[in-house]
Amino acid sequence: MSGFQNIVLIGAGNVATQLGIAIQNTGRKIVQVYSRTEEAAMKLAEKLNSAYTSDLGKINRDGDLYIVSVADDAVGKVAAKLGMLNGMVIHTSGSVAMEVLRESSANYGILYPLQTFSKSRKADFSNIPFCVEANSNENLQKLKGLAESLSGNVVEIDSDQRKILHLAAVFACNFTNYMYGAADDILKGSNLDFDLLRPLIMETAMKVQQMNPEVAQTGPAMRGDKRIMKEHIELLEKYPEYRKIYEILSERIGERRGEEGIMV
Ligand SMILES: NC(=O)c1ccc[n+]([C@@H]2O[C@H](COP(=O)([O-])OP(=O)(O)OC[C@H]3O[C@@H](n4cnc5c(N)ncnc54)[C@H](OP(=O)(O)O)[C@@H]3O)[C@@H](O)[C@H]2O)c1
Repeated sequence: MSGFQNIVLIGAGNVATQLGIAIQNTGRKIVQVYSRTEEAAMKLAEKLNSAYTSDLGKINRDGDLYIVSVADDAVGKVAAKLGMLNGMVIHTSGSVAMEVLRESSANYGILYPLQTFSKSRKADFSNIPFCVEANSNENLQKLKGLAESLSGNVVEIDSDQRKILHLAAVFACNFTNYMYGAADDILKGSNLDFDLLRPLIMETAMKVQQMNPEVAQTGPAMRGDKRIMKEHIELLEKYPEYRKIYEILSERIGERRGEEGIMV
């Protein structure tokens, strides 16, 4: 097995949990978990049978890889507090520059898994795109070795491309999921069950596996059914925030089919 046998996880959230479990399953050892919250560090350490700490001053300094997987705004701050480490230091963020790790090690890089993770849902890493970047070719090869032991889909992506990928992922995943929540609220308002939408949600996601999203688009705005859209706007009276979203998105979909001012 290539490189990295003793790994320290910095962070105990969604990604640290799923990535930690997957890395451990490759036969490597997670030697320590750090989290700002001791309970979170302890819970993940129990799963991984590793040591834990909530004190950055007590980080195990013998690791050969440190994975900083904390909130984006905290990556730089946490990395700055690590001091110079001998092992390689990487982070998992889609949008944070690689250079924030420069003061933590002479060897640093990025391992960005392009997927949505939750602590409570086991992740299948086998086809998750892993976007890798490192500060030297030697480090890049080591990081690729780790990524390839987890997934068959490893790509070299620089920091600028990674930011764009993350932005696209916010639209494709985070905003889509927000829409599921909006749909759930609207259904609940009339005592209807979200389960009724699950097959539709599944088919929407499956269609774009084979078709371009523009070709797959359906619905009143796509058809130009103005009367139905007016009715929908009226039904959304008690949800002004969803009404705004409905109007903006319907306008955009209308523009795509060449009709401006579809909501007027
Ligand atoms: N979730 C995803 O789907 C996903 C996918 C790809 C990449 N990523 C990236 O992976 C990284 C971690 O994301 P996540 O979803 O795992 O986050 P998360 O579940 O919200 O966990 C965030 C972790 O950061 C810690 N943290 C937050 N603020 C901190 C601070 N100021 N100082 C020290 N620690 C702090 C939290 O500690 P506490 O428990 O004490 O709050 C927690 O351990 C991010 O860079 C994110 O962009 C996430």
